[in-house]
Amino acid sequence: MKTMLRVHNLTYAYEKGHSPVLKNLNLLIGEGEYIAIIGPNGCGKTTLIRHFNALLLPTAGEVQVEEFSTSDTKRLLEIRRRVGMAFQNADNQIVGMSVEEDVAFGPGNLGLPSAEVRRRVDRALAIVGLTELRTRQPYTLSGGQKQLLALAGLLAMEPKLIVLDEPTASLDPESKKKVLTLLQTLNSQGLGIIHVTHNMEEAALADRVLVMDKGELVADGRPVDILNRVKWLKSLGLAPPTITELMWKLQQWGADMSTSVITIDAAFKEITSLLERLENSSQAFIPRKVDGNV
Ligand SMILES: Nc1ncnc2c1ncn2[C@@H]1O[C@H](COP(=O)(O)OP(=O)(O)OP(=O)(O)O)[C@@H](O)[C@H]1O
Ligand SMILES: [Mg+2]
Repeated sequence: MKTMLRVHNLTYAYEKGHSPVLKNLNLLIGEGEYIAIIGPNGCGKTTLIRHFNALLLPTAGEVQVEEFSTSDTKRLLEIRRRVGMAFQNADNQIVGMSVEEDVAFGPGNLGLPSAEVRRRVDRALAIVGLTELRTRQPYTLSGGQKQLLALAGLLAMEPKLIVLDEPTASLDPESKKKVLTLLQTLNSQGLGIIHVTHNMEEAALADRVLVMDKGELVADGRPVDILNRVKWLKSLGLAPPTITELMWKLQQWGADMSTSVITIDAAFKEITSLLERLENSSQAFIPRKVDGNV
C-alpha cells in the first residue's frame, strides 16, 4: 500500500516552554485506509489531525503528505488538495451565500476553469444528496444538512484523504446514519478517511483504530482487537461498544463466549452458538460469577 501520510517523531507544544501536547508520535497511514481515532477528552486528537493538512506545524519531528513535508510552506496547496478537513461545527465552515456557491469556494480557489468547477460542484452535491437544495442559503439548512454541505465542500476538492473531527457529534440519529453510510461508500470507492470520534460504534466501522492517551499513541489495530479490551478502555475513561460490554459481562459470569464482538450481528452469532452448545449439555446458561468486577 502506498503511504499517504507519515508522522515521524512528532512533538507539539502550543506555547514555547510549555509541556508538549503531542509527544514523539510515529504513524504511517496508507492510501485509502479508513481510520478511527479515539481517546479521552484533551488527549490530543484534534491537535494531531490539524497537523495532517498543515493547520499546525510540528514543534519537532515531521509530518509528510505523500512526499511533501507540511513544514515546506511552498507545498501548502499540494497538501491541501490531497487532504481535506472538516470539524464538528459545520456552521464555522460555511463561506458561501448559497449551497452551490459554498461548495464551489474550494475548487474556485484552485484556479480551475469554471466548467470544471461546475462539474465538481454538481458531482459533490449529488454524492451527498444536496442537489435539490443547491440554491438554498446555507443558514437555512438543518445541522445534518450543514455537515453534508461541509463534506460536499471537501469532496469538490477531489482529495485523496478526508479528515473529520467528530463530524456526527451534534447530529440527530438519522443524519448520523446518513453521514456514516456516506463515509463507508466513499471509502469503498477509494477515498481515505480519518474519523475522530468518541463513539465506539462509529469507531467499529473503520478498518483500523488508533487510540491516543495523554499525547501519545497507545494502541493501533483492527477495531475488533482494540474495542474488545473492555477493562482497558474503561481505565482510559472510554466506553466500549455496548454490545461488547454486554458480552464481556456474560463472560465474567462464566458464559463460554468470545468478547471479540463489536457488532450486533457478531453478538447474535456468538449467543446463538453458545445456545446450540448448551442445548445438549446439562450446563446452565450462566453457571457462576467469575470475577467481582461485573
Ligand atoms: N489553542 C490551544 N492553546 C493551548 N492549548 C490548547 C489549545 N487547543 C488545545 N489545547 C490543549 O491541548 C490538549 C489537547 O487538546 P485537543 O483539543 O487536541 O484534545 P482532544 O483529544 O481533541 O480533546 P476532545 O476529545 O475534547 O476534543 C488539551 O490539554 C487542550 O487543553
Ligand atoms: Mg478534539
